[in-house]
Amino acid sequence: MDAPETIFHPVTLSSLKDCFKDLAFDLYLLMPTGKHIKAFDKTTGLDFSRLATYEAKGVQYFYVTREEVVLLDEHLARSPMFMLTNPETPVEGKKKAFLTVMEQTLFEAFTHGSTTQAAIAKAFEALRASLQSDRDFLDTLTLLLEVCPKDDSFLRHAIGTSIYSYIVATLNGMSSERSLKIILFAAFFHDIGRLRLPEDRRLAYQNKSIEEIVEFRRHPLLTLETFSASLPFADEEIRTCILQHKERLDGKGYPHGVKGPSIFILARILAIGDAMSEFTLGMEDGHFYTKAQALAHMMSEEGHFDRKLLAPFANLILQGSTPKAA
Ligand SMILES: [Fe+2]
Repeated sequence: MDAPETIFHPVTLSSLKDCFKDLAFDLYLLMPTGKHIKAFDKTTGLDFSRLATYEAKGVQYFYVTREEVVLLDEHLARSPMFMLTNPETPVEGKKKAFLTVMEQTLFEAFTHGSTTQAAIAKAFEALRASLQSDRDFLDTLTLLLEVCPKDDSFLRHAIGTSIYSYIVATLNGMSSERSLKIILFAAFFHDIGRLRLPEDRRLAYQNKSIEEIVEFRRHPLLTLETFSASLPFADEEIRTCILQHKERLDGKGYPHGVKGPSIFILARILAIGDAMSEFTLGMEDGHFYTKAQALAHMMSEEGHFDRKLLAPFANLILQGSTPKAA
């Protein structure tokens, strides 16, 4: 007698992008022949780098067998973002979830050649190790979750900005642990001052009147005022980074209109990471830009960003050229 045929259920690739790596089930790909082949194995887990590759090839669905649907649902129900924002999650769980979201964000930035992905994966391992052993990281994470416990978009923006800024810094040859830590910690908090504004005026394009624009442009100062006594705000360079992240090279930025090299180099890097994250999360003008569209926009803005710092990042995103490992 023939063995009973296995029944498969589809799962969207995008839902898996928000998951942990430790799968308790196998994931299959549907081949043009109609057969299913294993794409991810429960013993090896989910690989975000390969997930990004599949996405780049146009894959939209994976499949699980009928017996494993319950396990899949349980897995999807405990996404890292849910774990992060759930007050019940123990501190170690939050730390793990936070690093997972950072890792996913990093891999989502790259869908190009395998050499690039390998170099980035190596760089991330250094970042993960450095954060895990960092005494201040846990306090920083706790504070971050305290100030934006329910606001997914600001949390995502904090993480996106940190990852993009980290990449820009490493591509420009910065490898000192101190510089990278300043960038990351400043990025986590750079926009938290916006949460003091009314909910419908926290994004630049929502502020229409002169008074609203003036108030909105005080948000770097609001961040510093709010947390002046808290970690990591005691660090003067982190404070400068936050204060200057909306300044422009031509002096037309805010809050102080600082110009050119007078803008702290790490703040110029943060400005690039911040813009990339805002464009792709729909925070700039309400439109969700692709990474390429975001870069095109940033490159076209004469006098805004530091072009020398932006160029290797643009090459990496647009052409997938190999970055220097951190
Ligand atoms: Fe921002």
